[in-house]
Amino acid sequence: MVLLQLNYLKNGLIKNQLLYLIGICYSYNFTFDEEKFMDIVKFGIIGCGMAARFHILGMRNVSNPPLKFVAAHDINEKILTRFSKAHKLTPYNKLEDLLQSDIDAVLILLPHYLHARVTKAAAEAGKHVLCEKPMAPTLEECDEMITVTKKAGVEFMIAENHRFLPAHLYIKDLLERDFIGDVFLINTYEGAYDDPEHFLNPDIWHFTYDKGGGGVLADQGAHKFALLNWLLDDTVESAQAWCAKTLNSPPNKGEDNAIIFLRFRKGAIAEITVSTSAIHTPYNSTELHGTKGSIIENHQWENPVKIFSSHKEAETKGFFYGPKEPPEHGPFPKYYIISARNEDSHFAECVLNNKKPEFTPENAKEAVASILLAYLSVKKGTMTKMDELKKMAKMEGTKSILNGLEEFMQKNYENLNW
Ligand SMILES: NC(=O)c1ccc[n+]([C@@H]2O[C@H](COP(=O)([O-])OP(=O)(O)OC[C@H]3O[C@@H](n4cnc5c(N)ncnc54)[C@H](O)[C@@H]3O)[C@@H](O)[C@H]2O)c1
Repeated sequence: MVLLQLNYLKNGLIKNQLLYLIGICYSYNFTFDEEKFMDIVKFGIIGCGMAARFHILGMRNVSNPPLKFVAAHDINEKILTRFSKAHKLTPYNKLEDLLQSDIDAVLILLPHYLHARVTKAAAEAGKHVLCEKPMAPTLEECDEMITVTKKAGVEFMIAENHRFLPAHLYIKDLLERDFIGDVFLINTYEGAYDDPEHFLNPDIWHFTYDKGGGGVLADQGAHKFALLNWLLDDTVESAQAWCAKTLNSPPNKGEDNAIIFLRFRKGAIAEITVSTSAIHTPYNSTELHGTKGSIIENHQWENPVKIFSSHKEAETKGFFYGPKEPPEHGPFPKYYIISARNEDSHFAECVLNNKKPEFTPENAKEAVASILLAYLSVKKGTMTKMDELKKMAKMEGTKSILNGLEEFMQKNYENLNW
């Protein structure tokens, strides 16, 4: 309790920003001119918690949006009523009733262990499925999600916002235009400070082995693996990970900090660091070094990308420069909202135009494979190859990787004076 109180005081700034975000979300009233929108995908939100707020905010003030949130379902009646009222959504106490309504698609914003189950129910009801990351805790569930959505003939995408963040799209474009040559070295960080109560309370699903599929490595690592596979146009060949608990969280909770070293199949080496206990507002940073230059990115900067390149189109040579026309960006919470808008709009446009989403379910499954590979390496205490994980998946499945992980977590909290 004392620990919690100290954190509340120390991190007042972060809390204030979160409260601000929640405040603007609830004070906003959706107004829609129905006649203006001929082609629009009607969405039902499933799970009206924190992520739902980013998605609602993302579509605020968008002119001619390709989608509209019209309905909602949450197991918690109070949350459902409050959220539906605030955003003029039709509330459904039962999932089956929502799925029988005239919505076209669902946005699944639930604890990770429910992603596969609810995707199946929605697909079988003929609804297109957009589901938050990570796809699911095991590769078997990922396969099931791919199979059921294909069989039902519905569009399916995992909402991986890092694939739709303008700063990341900007970097991808620079890489494709050969601004820094062949990338051989990467380091990337995400710090998304979370209320210690989330870790200390065994009843909150976040970061649990059984409902969350693991700690911060599963939760934030999902973003990083999806990002790096895409930027490098490659997949992970091997990994070695360290996971640490800096909070004395109960045994059903995973790590709150992790470092993962990766080797990609084409040879690049990378380091991923993720934390939920580092004390600052959420941000990501990525450094990419190639045979002709470097790119560094930090989501705390208004102009989030800096480039060192001798490319003929480089704006400055011999120094790092921020582009004169930077990608659309703003430090937390703005970049969350921008990326939620982009991913939701992209998915809706795919539904309207019968196109396959840019971020495929197979890409999302590969990110889950990397999470599981990192955990397997923690258990083995050594570098582990993706081929070994894939073999294991075929022979016995991947569920057992999460069993008994707690024993292998480095317990660091006794040395720390929070
Ligand atoms: N992209 C991002 O940056 C980002 C940020 C936050 C969360 N997320 C993802 O969004 C998803 C939801 O996370 P969250 O933080 O919003 O969680 P949350 O706990 O805040 O919200 C989940 C909601 O689901 C409801 N719920 C739980 N079980 C249910 C059930 N069986 N049926 C119906 N409703 C149920 C809960 O009552 C709660 O309101 C997760 O996949 C998470 O990883 C992504």
